[in-house]
Amino acid sequence: MSAVDKAVNIADLRRLAKRRLPRIVFDYADGGAEDEITLRGNCRVFETITLRPRSAVPMPSPDLRTTVLGTTFDLPFLLAPIGSTRMFHPHGEALAAAAAGAAGTGYILSTLCGSPLEEVKAAATRPVWYQLYLVGGHDVARAGIERARRAGFSALVVTIDTPVAGMRERDHYNGTGALLTRKIGSMLPYIPQLLAKPRWLAGFIADGGLMSFPNVMLPTGPMPYADVGRALAECAVGWPDLRWIRDAWGGPIIVKGVHTADDARRAVDAGAEGVVVSNHGGRQLDGVAPTLRVLPEVVAAVGDRTEVLFDGGIRRGSDIVKALALGARAVLIGRAYMYGLGAGGGPGVTRAIDILRADLLRTLTLLGCPSAAGLDRSFLELPAGWPST
Ligand SMILES: Cc1cc2nc3c(=O)[nH]c(=O)nc-3n(C[C@H](O)[C@H](O)[C@H](O)COP(=O)(O)O)c2cc1C
Repeated sequence: MSAVDKAVNIADLRRLAKRRLPRIVFDYADGGAEDEITLRGNCRVFETITLRPRSAVPMPSPDLRTTVLGTTFDLPFLLAPIGSTRMFHPHGEALAAAAAGAAGTGYILSTLCGSPLEEVKAAATRPVWYQLYLVGGHDVARAGIERARRAGFSALVVTIDTPVAGMRERDHYNGTGALLTRKIGSMLPYIPQLLAKPRWLAGFIADGGLMSFPNVMLPTGPMPYADVGRALAECAVGWPDLRWIRDAWGGPIIVKGVHTADDARRAVDAGAEGVVVSNHGGRQLDGVAPTLRVLPEVVAAVGDRTEVLFDGGIRRGSDIVKALALGARAVLIGRAYMYGLGAGGGPGVTRAIDILRADLLRTLTLLGCPSAAGLDRSFLELPAGWPST
């Protein structure tokens, strides 16, 4: 039995990922912006909500299916877009998409990924969505949208919370910028952390190293990795952009990065078929509310007009249960599967999914709720100060 198979929970996968990955890569995934207040808050808020079970309710195995944008998935969670996934494991994006498909759920591919989108689509057996940043400008983004449509991606996820990259202080301490300069003098102090993980390094080099983004095709070729911070700052998406994105795409759009009821309404008015209540996993504006705290206000504002998805801080099946009971149609998991990928590639992602699936089945059974779709607020006790409806 491998170490990944022995992992009991997501925290075990996190420990294994920390052991296998260089500090610079582990911290890139694990860390958040500035003081990481929001990163911690996203996780801790789940502890403030208590569950209210209905006992003596015998039932068959609970039904975990959920329907999003007309597609029924076997699980109420999808895999969130994660930039540079290929850094965690060779061909990381394709492995994650394949693991999601095998589990009967969907995968969302980041614009800022290391693999051609066609390769990722080919590895997937269930629907995959494409997450859009406007990096490189409108023409470059339009070409990416076209490619995603031709390849068969079924929805576009437009991320709106990244007008600049957040201040991820761990990346600065680890020398991410210095390592990307490719100037040996600047790089030297930071190289030992890579040499300390020879198995990871051998895989990374054999995989070609992640130095550009193959789905962001500039006139000069794929966008170099070193340019990402500047490119994000030059391509902030605004509400008027939603219109041309809609026209260029011609399919369903989900707006990701909604923090307030007002922005949720704007997204729906701009034609979004869905919104993701998300603060980018605490990686952007530190100090914003934990996403679970915002979910009820967004559901109340737009839940009858659009599909509300949720992400942030999910490490247990009971976290998913709480978000669904507060009105999310489905959730996205980010670090939970990324730790699995970092710990052991495709089997690690599968292990993360299996852990959360088993958690969900057990939690629903103990709650006396026959299905994920049957969850509602009557299964929760909310702290004082939370909206009562
Ligand atoms: C390493 C990393 C990279 C990410 N890259 C992207 C990205 O390229 N695009 C995007 O929309 N969100 C990105 N996110 C945010 C995730 O999609 C998701 O919102 C977040 O991970 C959810 O929080 P969780 O990790 O606590 O589950 C990234 C998150 C992490 C951890």
